[in-house]
Amino acid sequence: MKVTVVGAGNVGATCADVLAKKEIANEIILLDIKEGVAEGKALDIWQTAPINLYDSRTIGVTNDYSRTAGSEVVVITSGIPRKPGMSRDDLIATNAGIVKAVTGNVIKHSPNAKIVVVSNPLDVMTYCAYLNAGVDSSRVFGMAGILDTARYRAFLATELNVSPKDIQAVLMGGHGDTMVPLPRYTTVAGIPVTELIDKAKLDAIVERTKVGGGEIVKLLGTSAWYAPGAAAAQMVEAMVRDQKRIFPVCALLKGEYGINNIYLGAPVILGKNGIEKIIELKLNSEESALLKSSADAVKSVMDVLDGMKAVA
Ligand code: NAI
Ligand code: 2OP
Repeated sequence: MKVTVVGAGNVGATCADVLAKKEIANEIILLDIKEGVAEGKALDIWQTAPINLYDSRTIGVTNDYSRTAGSEVVVITSGIPRKPGMSRDDLIATNAGIVKAVTGNVIKHSPNAKIVVVSNPLDVMTYCAYLNAGVDSSRVFGMAGILDTARYRAFLATELNVSPKDIQAVLMGGHGDTMVPLPRYTTVAGIPVTELIDKAKLDAIVERTKVGGGEIVKLLGTSAWYAPGAAAAQMVEAMVRDQKRIFPVCALLKGEYGINNIYLGAPVILGKNGIEKIIELKLNSEESALLKSSADAVKSVMDVLDGMKAVA
């Protein structure tokens, strides 16, 4: 069983490494446009197999999509980060051009693949992949919610001095400052988090989560990769092993939560068919208002993409 990761940069290579180490796929194709990069990183990953004692093979290729043929899942991490002087619209145009070309090649060689988009701006790049894949939206979705909830859970684990394993949480909305962590649906070993932490501390953690990506960019000068790579690999695992896991995923909403035709983070069941169900939580009026404003923010960027004839 084959899984492809497009983009052998920080996130893509980390994702491939996790897929190999956890033997989630027996063949992992790592593809990049830069000559030799994917080959080099795949070789390095493969050389960890005798040390880490696994036999999944990671193979690197330079833009050769024939080697990706028949992939069950494809993770798209290709794209460029925003550079100084670059407007948001320039970034959308550049990354949408990349995501469009990649999606076309992916579907040509793996018509039945499920596609997990990681490239930013996430919600809109996922929409771009959907427009260009020509397949049902249950097979095209984005990774952000697992990462954002992982940050939220990690901050809570630090604050409460408990294992992150025991913290369950859900978070909705776009991958950006308008994301909507949901303390009402956050528990620690079954105990509502609100019973364990005071409101001011919880509010501060929610706010830190919303800018969690930026916190790492400030520290490193580039965006995160360990948690994003692991999060994408966890989505792949849920599909490959048909686990029916419930994760927050960037999914095309078609009336759920009163939102139509917008890619937005929501809890879904992930299994061998991709998104098998979008779960509709009962939100209170405050949560609904936050979700609506997040949807509006994502929609305004989707509109920018729709205005670019070249990429949509
Ligand atoms: P990176 O710059 O390390 O890697 C990107 C790779 O894509 C490079 O190796 C580049 O050569 C490759 N690439 C560019 N155009 C390509 C094409 N047409 N075909 C194949 N490969 C191509 O970047 P990094 O850190 O790995 O991030 C990748 C993307 O993921 C960025 O857009 C970043 O903003 C996004 N990201 C999203 C997260 C999320 O939660 N959704 C979290 C972290 C990063
Ligand atoms: C992150 O959240 C920047 O999307 C990237 O780390």
